[in-house]
Amino acid sequence: MEVIRGISRMREFVQEQKLSGKRIGLVPTMGYLHAGHLSLVREALKSCDVVVMSIFVNPLQFGVGEDFEDYPRDLTRDSELAEQAGVAAIFAPAVSEMYPSGGYYSYVDVEKTTEGLCGRSRPGHFRGVTTVVTKLFNIVQPDVAVFGQKDAQQAVVIQRMVRDLNLPLQIVVAPIIREADGLALSSRNVYLNPAEREAALVLYRSLNQAEQLVTAGERNAKVLQETIEKQIKEEPLARIDYIEVVRAEDLQPSEVLQGRTLIALAVFFGQTRLIDNRIVEV
Ligand code: PAJ
Repeated sequence: MEVIRGISRMREFVQEQKLSGKRIGLVPTMGYLHAGHLSLVREALKSCDVVVMSIFVNPLQFGVGEDFEDYPRDLTRDSELAEQAGVAAIFAPAVSEMYPSGGYYSYVDVEKTTEGLCGRSRPGHFRGVTTVVTKLFNIVQPDVAVFGQKDAQQAVVIQRMVRDLNLPLQIVVAPIIREADGLALSSRNVYLNPAEREAALVLYRSLNQAEQLVTAGERNAKVLQETIEKQIKEEPLARIDYIEVVRAEDLQPSEVLQGRTLIALAVFFGQTRLIDNRIVEV
């Protein structure tokens, strides 16, 4: 496995692979890999010969006062895990390689789908995500890129962008990988102290409860939202950012559940903001 720092070498690597007829998969990450990221590699390997993983903590998608500086980084450990998982090359550019200091003026903005949920509480976040992901697509030119359902809104926004801008690749969205007790894997889980880690299980419990209500026939989005809110408020270490029930396809509010519906939440435990979600079909 090769660890590539420069854009020109990355392009060269991909050209070599394409000349020998290989299908390229891209798994974009910010590193500090866990089994969730590695499941995306497995997914990419199902339909691609060569998987490139990008590891880049993208400053553009972090707001002022967010955890860009503190975000966990360990390229040595990540390289080992990626190689074991079958990654052919890691693309790990420096910030100055992606955003040269001479000035950077070009951004990709996706409307509507970025207004609610995380877009509301993290202004500019998705602009940073769609801009860096477009750059990665242009550099690696993959046939397939794999994203996780864990970041449900991100997956919808990227699918929208690819469709709207006719980007020539296929997007695959892979299921959420969880710890044995139900906590969704996240690089940010390392921030949690033991009490917060225990408290964070309320996310999984409340999503399970909401799904059970839907299975039992509940169709009122407000009832679901309030049920989750009540359960999370019983946990003293939790502070709710949002709980939303929206149409899974375009993230627009759905008062009465119809079709695929996304139940999404963001909750702080101490300084750590965790997200989780569930898709229900009615
Ligand atoms: P990061 O948070 O590192 O996540 C990289 C990918 O792993 C995303 O597609 C995310 O949805 C997926 N992922 C994270 N936790 C997961 C889990 N428990 N189960 C399944 N998939 C999981 O998302 C980003 O980085 C960035 O925004 C990025 C797309 C790389 C752009 O900078």
